[in-house]
Amino acid sequence: MIDTEILLYDSIRPVRWQDNGLYLLDQRKLPNEEVYLHITSTQALYEAIKDMVVRGAPAIGIAAAYGAVIAAKESTLDSTVDFTQGFNSRLDLLASSRPTAINLFNALNAAKQVAANSSEPITTLLAWANQWLDDDINANKNIGAHGASCFKPGSRVLTHCNAGALATGGYGTALGVIRSGYQQGLLESIYSAETRPWNQGSRLSLWEFQYEKIPATLIADSVAASLMQKGLIDWVVVGADSICMNGDIANKIGTYSLAVLAKHHGVKLMVAAPTTTIDLSAESGESIVIEQRSASEILPANYVDGIVNALNPVFDVTPAHLISAIVTEKGVIESPDARKMQALTE
Ligand code: MRU
Repeated sequence: MIDTEILLYDSIRPVRWQDNGLYLLDQRKLPNEEVYLHITSTQALYEAIKDMVVRGAPAIGIAAAYGAVIAAKESTLDSTVDFTQGFNSRLDLLASSRPTAINLFNALNAAKQVAANSSEPITTLLAWANQWLDDDINANKNIGAHGASCFKPGSRVLTHCNAGALATGGYGTALGVIRSGYQQGLLESIYSAETRPWNQGSRLSLWEFQYEKIPATLIADSVAASLMQKGLIDWVVVGADSICMNGDIANKIGTYSLAVLAKHHGVKLMVAAPTTTIDLSAESGESIVIEQRSASEILPANYVDGIVNALNPVFDVTPAHLISAIVTEKGVIESPDARKMQALTE
């Protein structure tokens, strides 16, 4: 059993408002360098989200919430258009940064409402964005507690991508469940899949585990099947970029493969995400827009003549019937379906 002497495991905060701007821990540089960028324009934030300085659906949503504060400041100074027009066009720029994480759109839509109902939009939006961040961290701690309640003592878990503190305001969703399970002494082993091609598992989740002194084991993505075949995994625990109203979810590419493998081997699949990741307008996974990133992210540099290419979809859809539980801050939904999702969101 893993030793549980250290009882904190919650010290990483990748997004914070300070000095009239947004500090973002540059996740492209981890684990080699810990560098924060200070973002003070919507254009810079758009680029930071697109280029994955900040990534992970809830963290993108939080960055966008603070982006609305920056957009309000810029729009107040912009004499070429009225405030609402300038503000909305800046939020539209942020919305065009990445297409799959629904938290981005939920945060931007909420920001539009906040601004429309305030005579002091900058001050009101800053208070609201601070609350959005606090709510996310609190949601994650509740998700952690609810998710860990599903584990029996001695559980062996596998996580994919990074759904940790780095992907949220703090504590993490899937890694929040693992933090909580570890703190309660319920986990026998924690495996982190490398998560090709961007290596969120090896670069980011491993960095978090090392930072918090939580023992974990890295595996290449292709090792998961044989671990399950040997009976070494009880739960696959992942986050989500979008949850649909029938319980289908989108998450990092490779999640669907793990879900199929888990079903085949009788391993359970837990999807841990806050309710800000629910897309109330999406009936099923068919409507989810899957981000395609540049071929250059996976194509070795010597292949440049265009005869060979690379396909780089960075998310996939896992249908509800492969999911054992969706865990939100409100509790655990076993075997999710449209009726249970409707009840959750009422
Ligand atoms: O491309 P990324 O790194 O932004 O993808 C992140 C994921 O897929 C996460 O699993 C998801 O956003 C949940 S994060 C709590």
